[in-house]
Amino acid sequence: MTTSKITTAEQSVSRELGVHGHRWAGVFDGYFSDANVARPLLDAVEKAIEVSKPDVLADLGGGTGFLLAELLRRGMNSVRLVDVDLSEKQLSACANGRIAKLQSPLNQVTRRQLMAGEGKLLLMSRSMLHYFGRDGIDPLLKHLHRQLNPGEIFVHQSACFARQEDADLMSHLYERMETGKWFFTTDELTARLENAGFSVRAVTLAPSLEMSSVDLGERYDLDEEEKAAIRMEIEEKFGCGQKIFAREGKEFRATLCYCIFTCEAM
Ligand SMILES: C[S@@+](CC[C@H](N)C(=O)[O-])C[C@H]1O[C@@H](n2cnc3c(N)ncnc32)[C@H](O)[C@@H]1O
Repeated sequence: MTTSKITTAEQSVSRELGVHGHRWAGVFDGYFSDANVARPLLDAVEKAIEVSKPDVLADLGGGTGFLLAELLRRGMNSVRLVDVDLSEKQLSACANGRIAKLQSPLNQVTRRQLMAGEGKLLLMSRSMLHYFGRDGIDPLLKHLHRQLNPGEIFVHQSACFARQEDADLMSHLYERMETGKWFFTTDELTARLENAGFSVRAVTLAPSLEMSSVDLGERYDLDEEEKAAIRMEIEEKFGCGQKIFAREGKEFRATLCYCIFTCEAM
């Protein structure tokens, strides 16, 4: 593990350790352990496997290894699988012997760590890029691009919004919960991927994640007063009746939108 400066993403991970490991499958109504929710991303990954015939598939921020285990369950057995995550608790909940585990910050993971010799690499991830914040995203994307050879693919399901107002609302909510997470519009994320050297071949919608303030409060350690203050502030700043932010009695519900990006390294 590195001793260099702690990044925004690493700080966010350390704040979430309470729900990592075996508790992870139950968070946000089981979104991250639901095979139906995962299907569109896994379909896109299987398509990329068919086209690029990789020797190694690495899931970046793969958590408990749920997505890789699903791919195995769906019959994918020709590729070496690696779950890369910073959180030891997440990795310790990955018990499938066919999935190799690598504990590493993603901005330091290298091709050599994922693959000993020659071969083709495919990268995937879900719900990871926003951990890197507004300033960390470009260096991360450039770092990941450097690990790929031209023509290799990165398929990821990432939080993003069609409207700038929605991206701003979500970034504001996460800022108020004192995380460094940041949200972009789909167009801005596409532009940042292209700027890092990827050609974005396809962008499709993925199931949204409904987050109750009860879950958010537990994840980010917010008491009732803090949740009420955040709700009022967001309603004041962005107006009531937003599609992605709704009052529910004393609580609120926020909706994280996702797209699946299939990107080719140029
Ligand atoms: C929202 S969870 C998603 C887990 C998994 N991708 C899934 O969809 O089920 C994000 C994961 O990314 C990991 N992560 C976030 N920032 C990271 C970083 N800088 N380095 C390595 N892992 C990171 C977290 O530990 C966590 O397991």
